[in-house]
Amino acid sequence: MEKHRKAIYPGSFDPITNGHLDVIERSLTIFDEIEVSVIKNPSKKALFSTRERVEMIKSALKNYKGVKVSSFDGLLVEYAKKMGANTIIRGLRAVSDFEYEFQMALMNRRMAPEIKSVYLMPSPEFTFLSSSLIKEVCSLGGNIKDLVPETVEKNLLEKL
Ligand code: PNS
Repeated sequence: MEKHRKAIYPGSFDPITNGHLDVIERSLTIFDEIEVSVIKNPSKKALFSTRERVEMIKSALKNYKGVKVSSFDGLLVEYAKKMGANTIIRGLRAVSDFEYEFQMALMNRRMAPEIKSVYLMPSPEFTFLSSSLIKEVCSLGGNIKDLVPETVEKNLLEKL
């Protein structure tokens, strides 16, 4: 029997964007199961609570098969082990992401060599996209349609 390939896609997701969805879709062509996991206490102050972030992701992914949504705290590699995921997925948009991602990948590898980090590049139309930029543009009245799932747009307009 073929091995079940499970990967974890961790992040702040404050909120999820179409760039994240692009990475999830790409991951699903490689892995059998993806667990999208929201960090409970992101280093930057979050606009949305953990529960709100999880709910928005669940709603955006309601038609996807092979995806689970959760939240975690503590060390990512420990959580990945507990969940039976031997791969961490991260999106890489531009060279500017590289240094931070490289540091994290090597630190995670040092702590848990059996867990691999895999980087996926989103479609070029999303390489400029970030959750922070979405929040800024939306708070200033800019149009974010087609950049985030509908449920996120609705929640942002209510919150901001
Ligand atoms: O979307 P983000 O904010 O870039 O995600 C960062 C995240 C959640 C992947 C990172 O902060 C993380 O893994 N935090 C968990 C704590 C941990 O394991 N820290 C050591 C990383 S080397």
